[in-house]
Amino acid sequence: MTGAVPDTYVHLAAAGVSVVLDVTEGRLPSIVHWGAGLGEQTFDDVVSLAVAAVEPSAGNVVDAAVRVGVLPEHHAGWEGKPGLVGHREGTSWSPRFVLERIELDGSAVSDGGLIETGAALLVFHAHDPEAGLGLALELELLDSGLLRTRAEVHNEADGTYTVDDVNLAFPVPVRARQVLDFAGRWSRERVPQRHDLVVGIHEREGRKGRTGPDAATVLSVGTPGFEFSSGEVWGIHVGFSGNHRHYAEQLSAGAQVIGGGELLLPGEVRLAEGARYRTPWVYGAYGDGLDAQAHRFHRFLRSRESHPTRPRPVTLNVWEAVYFDHDVPRLLDLADRAAALGVERFVLDDGWFLGRRDDTSGLGDWTVDRDVWPDGLGPLVERVTASGMEFGLWFEPEMINEDSELARAHPEWIMQTGGRLPLRGRNQQVLNLGIPEAYDHVLADMTAILAEHDIAYIKWDHNRDLIDAGTAPTGAAGVHAQTLATYALMDELKRRFPALEIESCSSGGARVDLGVIERTDRVWVSDCIDPLERQQMMRWTMQLMPAELLGSHIGATVNHTTGRTHELSFRAATALFGHFGIEWDLARATDRESADLAAWIDFYKTHRALLHTGDMMRADTIDPAFQVYGAIAEDQSEALVFLAFLGRSTISPRGRFTVPNLHPEKRYRIAPVTIGTPDEGRADPQWYGDGTGVVLSGRALESVGVHLPGSFPERVVVYRITEV
Ligand code: GLA
Repeated sequence: MTGAVPDTYVHLAAAGVSVVLDVTEGRLPSIVHWGAGLGEQTFDDVVSLAVAAVEPSAGNVVDAAVRVGVLPEHHAGWEGKPGLVGHREGTSWSPRFVLERIELDGSAVSDGGLIETGAALLVFHAHDPEAGLGLALELELLDSGLLRTRAEVHNEADGTYTVDDVNLAFPVPVRARQVLDFAGRWSRERVPQRHDLVVGIHEREGRKGRTGPDAATVLSVGTPGFEFSSGEVWGIHVGFSGNHRHYAEQLSAGAQVIGGGELLLPGEVRLAEGARYRTPWVYGAYGDGLDAQAHRFHRFLRSRESHPTRPRPVTLNVWEAVYFDHDVPRLLDLADRAAALGVERFVLDDGWFLGRRDDTSGLGDWTVDRDVWPDGLGPLVERVTASGMEFGLWFEPEMINEDSELARAHPEWIMQTGGRLPLRGRNQQVLNLGIPEAYDHVLADMTAILAEHDIAYIKWDHNRDLIDAGTAPTGAAGVHAQTLATYALMDELKRRFPALEIESCSSGGARVDLGVIERTDRVWVSDCIDPLERQQMMRWTMQLMPAELLGSHIGATVNHTTGRTHELSFRAATALFGHFGIEWDLARATDRESADLAAWIDFYKTHRALLHTGDMMRADTIDPAFQVYGAIAEDQSEALVFLAFLGRSTISPRGRFTVPNLHPEKRYRIAPVTIGTPDEGRADPQWYGDGTGVVLSGRALESVGVHLPGSFPERVVVYRITEV
């Protein structure tokens, strides 16, 4: 023992995950093991594990065993990406923290030895008197088996301490040889990409001032060939909506870590004496297969008090139905049609506020445009609520058009640097919420509208990257402050209107992260609602979030983003496994389509409890021409399974498909379900019988399966699986 804290080892275990920590020699904790559950451990077991993990001191590096901490420290010989990067006018740049106190679930731990516990929150308090810094490092194993960490740096000395970076990292074993993370772009978010992990850093920086359509989202490393059902996977997610980074790093000395944190712009965090900087939560998800990893995120999200548990209302969003054509009679008619079909929430999108006739003007002026809405929003809100639907309204609170009353009154509220305005993005600029007066102004305007009308829901948009986002007149970088101010604004509106739900939208799916979902109720996955594209985007967005948080709409017959034409059944069946809705001009639907739509809405209402509480299942891919996925009830008594034909296989029919994750001993009936008009191009296999299907054990369904039907491409077959 060299610090105030006696040598301590910790074994945290929850939901099949073990985390073993070495907290000896007064140093910050380092992880000896994070991965598969180890069962109960004795003190000797854990000490042996810690000893067995020590690297030999190899040639030409430091003469000490290097032990990487959750906050990696350079002074300890760690030559990879450091944890805290900062300085005091060029000094104190390599801090050496000495542990002073450990707290376990709020109580001080002082005995040393072994802490053997389940899910728990540990806080490590440390100081570096030389550097004049304090540190509180939190490490929490959640009931879901998710591991998360965050740190708070405290300037305890005279003068300013500049924080450039705080990275938190988890070690991963060398058998994790492959990296999987996500790329993407507007209207094609969360595209998986895989490669081998090699020496160096695979680093994904998000410098867009928002999460980004190309965010890594979950950056995983795994054993070669890991799949949905197999292979060990360790992933990282930074729960933050501003600039951020995710990385996987392999050192030539063999150690490898995955980590991340907020990406700070120059000078964004300059701590005066007594000031603190806290990082976002960095989440670590281990799983035996990608589904098991995703389940940890889902279980954690579902366990939160704020998680939406009220049935997710069928939503109609008017955007792709009317765009900026805010014609009141047309919208009233759309509301009537929606209510008649069984829609439960009606959302008025962009175009309702002052001067907003297209996307060149108006942002910032959050008052109703009387030219278009002569009697205000009242008549529409009342029509919507009188017919039993909730009313939702679009805002883009962080933005401003130069052509707006607000920009004319307060040009200095536009984020900028260098004495010039930034390049426009979607014709707009960013409103600096880091300026208290600007923040108060938006809060007051939004509060006035929300107080005046019965508004249950906000679609909160954010449609441009933050470029040159500084604060006038100095131009100091302001993305960090902007992100925190956005969170504060959301939190304050939720405080003022406790029943209000918020959707996180950002040019579609550019703000999907665990920071924003702490204060919102769903995310808009993508502006692209072409079902063929959505099949992929929903599948992979579910790596982080469960279906009930993912806005998922039925679009027009001819898709507005891709020009592809799809049957209603494919659009609807694809939208079903999510927070289901419609974004289509119902006046254009034929009678048959309207009747089918009503049938799909009805089916969603009947099954949403299962879809929104069940465990997501994605069967391993056999052939890119089709995919099998669905939701299995937690008690494994039933499931809803989707077989999506995405293309045409070279082999047809393709043999059997299997359904994993049911109870092996239970017997189930699997039967196809027809919703609305039956699809053309189907060739039913014999096991359908008269439509009642067959009874098989969970084990047989997983290991033998049932024959695929013949089908046209771009169709989904829905199967109901019920225990008999
Ligand atoms: C963004 C959103 C869309 C829509 C428009 C409105 O692109 O992603 O869903 O709300 O803005 O301008």
